[in-house]
Order: sequence, then C-alpha cells, then structure tokens
Amino acid sequence: MYAVVGATGNTGRAVVKELKGLGESPVCIVRNADKAKEVLGADTKTAVAELDDRGALQKALAGAKRVFIVTGHNPKSDVQQINVIEAAKAAGAEYIVKVSGGRDVIGPDVESINGQAHHKIEEHLKKSGLQWCILSPGLFMQNIMGQAASIKNDGKIVQPWPKDLPVALIDVRDTGAVGARVLRDPAKHAGKMYVFSGVGTTFGDFANVIGEALGKPITYVAVTLEQAEAALKARNMPDWLVTHLIAIARAGGKGAFSKENTQPIRDIVGREPITTKQFVQDYKAAFG
Ligand SMILES: NC(=O)c1ccc[n+]([C@@H]2O[C@H](COP(=O)([O-])OP(=O)(O)OC[C@H]3O[C@@H](n4cnc5c(N)ncnc54)[C@H](OP(=O)(O)O)[C@@H]3O)[C@@H](O)[C@H]2O)c1
Repeated sequence: MYAVVGATGNTGRAVVKELKGLGESPVCIVRNADKAKEVLGADTKTAVAELDDRGALQKALAGAKRVFIVTGHNPKSDVQQINVIEAAKAAGAEYIVKVSGGRDVIGPDVESINGQAHHKIEEHLKKSGLQWCILSPGLFMQNIMGQAASIKNDGKIVQPWPKDLPVALIDVRDTGAVGARVLRDPAKHAGKMYVFSGVGTTFGDFANVIGEALGKPITYVAVTLEQAEAALKARNMPDWLVTHLIAIARAGGKGAFSKENTQPIRDIVGREPITTKQFVQDYKAAFG
C-alpha cells in the first residue's frame, strides 16, 4: 500500500491524482479530513495525523510499504519529517520518496532554516535503513499563484530578479507524475536523487505568456532584495519565513534555479514536461 504525507498540498495533491490515474488507491495522511475530501475527492482514503505526533503518524501509516513525503515550509520541518520517517519505519514501511529543495539552497550552514532542515532530513533518511529516493524539483510554476491578485488587479508580476534571469520552472504536476512512478517501481529508483525541472524560461517570458493568455499586457517589475524584504515584512510574515524567502531570492539571483534538467521527466514519465503556456491555460481563471 502507498501513503502520501502532505497530500492536501501542491505537490501531494498531484501525486495522489497521478496515483489514482494509474489505478492506485493511496492512503492520504492529513491533519484535516474535511479539507482532504474537498481537495482530493470524497472517494479518497484518509488517515488523520499531525506531523508533530509520531504515535498518530505510526498508527496512520500502518500497512503502508511505500511512503511519499512532502511538507510545507515550517521551522520544525526537520523534526516533522524525521517523525514521519521513524513512524513509517516502526509501522513496517520499506521505502520513502522525499521531496527536497534546490541543491544550491540546501546544506548544514545555509541561510534558510528550510534548507538546513532538508539537509538534516536527507542525511537521516540515508542512514534510516529504509530504501529511499529523493526528488529535487526546480522552482514551482505554482508559486506565481501568490501573485494572482497582483496580476488580476494591477497587471503586474513583482519579483526580486531581473526579467531576463534564466529560470528552470516546473509544474508541480510533473513532480506528481515523477513521484507516482517512483512509488510504483521503487527498486529501479532506490538510492537515487533526481534533480529536474521544466524547460528553461525567464520571468519576463512568463509574464508575456500570462499576458497573451489573458489578452492584456502583464508588466514584469524587478525589485531589489531590500524592497522585497520590506514588502514581506509589511505582510507580517514571521522572521524565519522572511529570512527563508530572501535567502531563496538571493540564491536565485546567483543562478540557483537557472539550470534546466528535463531528462528525468522524459525518462520516468515518458513525456515532455508541462510548459508555462500549458500551466497558464490551466490556471487562467485565477489570473483573469
Ligand atoms: N516552492 C518551490 O518553488 C519549491 C521548489 C523546490 C522544492 N520545494 C519544496 O517543496 C516543499 C513544499 O511543497 P508544497 O508546495 O507541495 O507544500 P504545501 O503545498 O505547502 O503542502 C504542505 C502539506 O503539508 C501538510 N502539513 C503541513 N503542516 C502539517 C502538520 N503540522 N500536520 C499535518 N500535515 C501538515 C499540509 O496540510 P494542510 O493542507 O492541512 O495545510 C499540506 O498537505 C518544501 O519542502 C519546499 O522546500 C519547493
């Protein structure tokens, strides 16, 4: 049996949808069963557990041999994902697929607490005695949803990067497609780390693609890191999250998300990655 932890999130939803499309019926480990039914469908198998509660996780994961883990940004994400790994092991799981972050923003001493956490979790997983596969997708196209209101109301995308900076964005549905296939054919992917992205683009081009789909110009506004930080603080974000987002912005400006690598998607899923044009067609209603 398969279990998906973080099933109600961007990537988790995509994994569940893909698994269902392949004829599987994964159990979704969620903290809110009503939300799960709403976003994943009423027919979805769920088990409720908080990531902070290892005992509840172990119960929820009973019978799951292969576990997919993706959780959101959180200062406790190291403890939480290690809870999942240990609970899965205690419940009899054999294989973990973990979504990690970009390789340039992960490490024991990086600025972002999220990057430090991914490093700790990866090291823990490798020594866990379980089989594993790590997925390291590029920057999500879906991050642009955070600017949907600005696109809709002001016709603007605001980012702390030059408009012609190369970026290798990925649609989370591609990560879902990769993840589901890794879960279904685990031996082939055991002990591997896949670093992958969609086709390289720029935010200037992304703005143009959105503008073409909406039939109105979308202006790309590049701001400085200082301006971006002030805007995040004005939204009353916690300090750790501001630090994380600015660390990502700083690293991105130095090319951390610039390298295209589409081959794992072709090899594992057997199709081309989703383009920004396709993404915009599918999400157009949110921008228009
Ligand atoms: N954004 C990017 O560009 C990017 C790029 C590469 C890698 N990543 C990595 O991808 C991950 C984020 O993926 P995502 O956007 O798919 O995540 P997401 O949409 O934020 O989803 C997080 C999931 O974790 C669940 N969750 C959070 N706290 C929980 C708790 N205490 N107990 C139980 N469940 C909990 C959420 O449940 P609820 O629905 O109930 O909240 C949700 O299902 C991060 O590790 C990030 O580093 C991100």
